[in-house]
Amino acid sequence: MRLSIIPFLLCLLPAFAQQAELRTPPPGKAPRINGPSVYGVRPGKPFLYRIPCTGERPVRFTAKGLPQGISLDGATGILSGKVPARKGEYRVQLGASNGAGKDGRLLRIVVGDTLALTPPMGWNDWYTHYTRITDKLMRQGADAMIASGMADAGYQYVNIDDCWSRKAGSTDPEIGGEPRGPNGEILTNARFPDMKGLTDYIHSKGLKAGIYSSPGPATCAKFVASWQHEEQDARTFAAWGFDFLKYDWCTYGSIAKEKSLVAFQTPYKLMGGILPRLDRDVVFNLCQYGMGDVWKWGAEVGGHSWRTTGDLGLEKDSRLPGFYTIGLRNAKLHEFAGPGRWNDPDYLLIGTVGDARNQSAPPKPVALTADEQYSYMSMWSLMAAPLFYSGDMNHLDELTLNILTNTEIIAINQDALGRQAHIVRQNEDELVLVKPLEGGAVAFGLFNLSQAPRKMRVTAKETGIKDGRELRDAWRQKVAGKMGVDFEATVARHGVEVFIAPVQGRRQTR
Ligand code: GAL
Repeated sequence: MRLSIIPFLLCLLPAFAQQAELRTPPPGKAPRINGPSVYGVRPGKPFLYRIPCTGERPVRFTAKGLPQGISLDGATGILSGKVPARKGEYRVQLGASNGAGKDGRLLRIVVGDTLALTPPMGWNDWYTHYTRITDKLMRQGADAMIASGMADAGYQYVNIDDCWSRKAGSTDPEIGGEPRGPNGEILTNARFPDMKGLTDYIHSKGLKAGIYSSPGPATCAKFVASWQHEEQDARTFAAWGFDFLKYDWCTYGSIAKEKSLVAFQTPYKLMGGILPRLDRDVVFNLCQYGMGDVWKWGAEVGGHSWRTTGDLGLEKDSRLPGFYTIGLRNAKLHEFAGPGRWNDPDYLLIGTVGDARNQSAPPKPVALTADEQYSYMSMWSLMAAPLFYSGDMNHLDELTLNILTNTEIIAINQDALGRQAHIVRQNEDELVLVKPLEGGAVAFGLFNLSQAPRKMRVTAKETGIKDGRELRDAWRQKVAGKMGVDFEATVARHGVEVFIAPVQGRRQTR
């Protein structure tokens, strides 16, 4: 008995015995402007952007070259207003200063047809609150996004998932009741007494709000959804002030009798045609688990991102944790991603998260080692995936924030070129991803898929980085050496090392 338990305990060792290294150095006191260098908005639409910036508060913000109709709150760094009705590009010089120093940064505001020029970033409540989500928890999510520094690193959307509408047939007064009003308008359940009040609250912080529905009659959790009310619901969402819609197939399977490409596309085409006609920009996230190779047509039907796989929270671990399985599937689809069109391998489930198979259980720390969690974030960043944390915003510990808010890692994800990393090597033990960045910079990730620490080697040829170019360790934000004919690094079990070859002669990309 005793003997048989030893191997079991030994296999737990890597997870528990490891002293987690905090890789991301703390931000300095002087301001540093983060976030993407490009931002898309449709002509004549409302604009809201909180300049992501680390550094000791108070910080004084400036912005030169803003389009007419947009103004800056110099104390909060929130840009707001309505952009001109004509297409055009504005080169805005952002500035930030405090007692410790100053920083400047160019932001290109592109008034045109394309939203989400870089992958959307934010928080979605699903994997923490499930059917328990309330207005209060969403507000707490927004508060934590600011207080934790996540917004300063670039997180922006605060998105409600399933369970805000009414559940047909439920006798629970909190979630039941007539699903629609006298004119067919969708009604919230009692846990969301004032949707406009909620989005006003989120917007007052310079953040954006997201909502969820299904093209079927009910959502996956059996709450009322948009079937035969598509236009009306989209207008309601816009009137409530939402900036993002996740549209989840769910019960649409009972409407679409056949499994044809046309059937897969129809509901998304319908909603994708409605959203650009609304009086505010709504980023459109398709959630149908990859059916009909959605990555091939998601953008054509108006989507800005599309889930490429089933739910990550339900993915069973194999030799590797579930995120690796999902990530490896998503990594193959690199050629389909680009500005305004992103492959979505589902949310970041690190830190404290609820259990998708046992949703009533309280959220708890995930069963991933620190190295695995760094790998998760690195993989999503290199794959230009939307970065949505879905863990508990009220339990953001030091390690979780260290993983979520590394501005050099996030800069790889938010790079304006919008390329998804391609796989240059994948076998049982190793994965190497290479992501070309704007201006000739290159990022690459060395993932150790094996059960022990390992030396990993890449050649200059594999990465496209010329011999002699300087490399930065993106996690530790410091110089790592030079690319030779090849480059070698020791990588922890299931862990990662990420390097950037910055544009020569230019300050480090971020
Ligand atoms: C699933 C979806 C999840 C979550 C859930 C809500 O279909 O993939 O991300 O939205 O529905 O019920």
